[in-house]
Amino acid sequence: MATTCTAPGKIYLFGEHAVVYGETAIACAVELRTRVCVERSNEILILSDIGTTGLDFEMHPYVSSAIQKLGSPDVSIEISSEIPVGSGLGSSAAVTVATLEAINIECGLLYDKTNIARMAHEIEMEVQGAASPTDTFVSTFGGVVEIPSRKKLDILECGVVIGNTNKGATPGKTAKLVKQVALLKEEYPDPIGSIIKTIGSFAQHGENMVMQKKYQALGKLMNINHGLLDALGVGTMELSALVYAARNAGAYGAKLTGAGGGGCMVALTDSPRQVACAIEKAGGTAIISGFAPDGVLQV
Ligand code: PMV
Repeated sequence: MATTCTAPGKIYLFGEHAVVYGETAIACAVELRTRVCVERSNEILILSDIGTTGLDFEMHPYVSSAIQKLGSPDVSIEISSEIPVGSGLGSSAAVTVATLEAINIECGLLYDKTNIARMAHEIEMEVQGAASPTDTFVSTFGGVVEIPSRKKLDILECGVVIGNTNKGATPGKTAKLVKQVALLKEEYPDPIGSIIKTIGSFAQHGENMVMQKKYQALGKLMNINHGLLDALGVGTMELSALVYAARNAGAYGAKLTGAGGGGCMVALTDSPRQVACAIEKAGGTAIISGFAPDGVLQV
């Protein structure tokens, strides 16, 4: 017997960086999934695009940590993923969550989802040194989630297009950018503090707009959020080129998603093809995705 689980990636509608200072954010699971197949074996084996290893904390840090966390059972694990690595879409959370849940089921360990999310967050902390629980929570439970309250909001009924700049996906990028914002805040506590608070207030307004399906208004606020992320110094020319291309193609709104410094942007739209085409013309890789109501799933 073998067990296969998939877990989704995520985007932020609002609130990255501000969430680090206790402000409210809204994150959504998206239909880009990491698939993990676990089978009992006579030794530990991990197979992915990176290569085939045993327990290897350099090559496969998240999967190795997940195996170790669950008592190092002898399993062979095969990973494949639709989520671009290190570009703000929560690829590491998705592989960690899917691995934990697939081993959990295959080995009859009976952990519930709350424990899967908790262990996945602990693993991200161990591997990265710092991580908010957002990615692991959203990947485990799916849907649209307000952070830090973890309140579930309605799934958005519009299209979502992700644009990848294919730049800046370096290990430790999130930690570096979080530190950069902290230094800027130290240098200019009042204006930067105000920007962070304002971003937090968007998530609060955004919650009403999500629930009332006011996507035009939601998009407008996302545009303002992008401007403020730029003001915090985490935007790039490439990200803004894709953001403007998406807006000019009729998107409700577009902003960078995740830590920034490259990586991905996200657009809400009812014309996904048109927006995807504009993103590609502006030099990005476009992914037409969808909002994912489900988190980690056995398939
Ligand atoms: O780029 P990502 O998906 O790791 O998102 C980072 C989001 C931050 O708010 C900048 C940091 C965090 O841990 O919440």
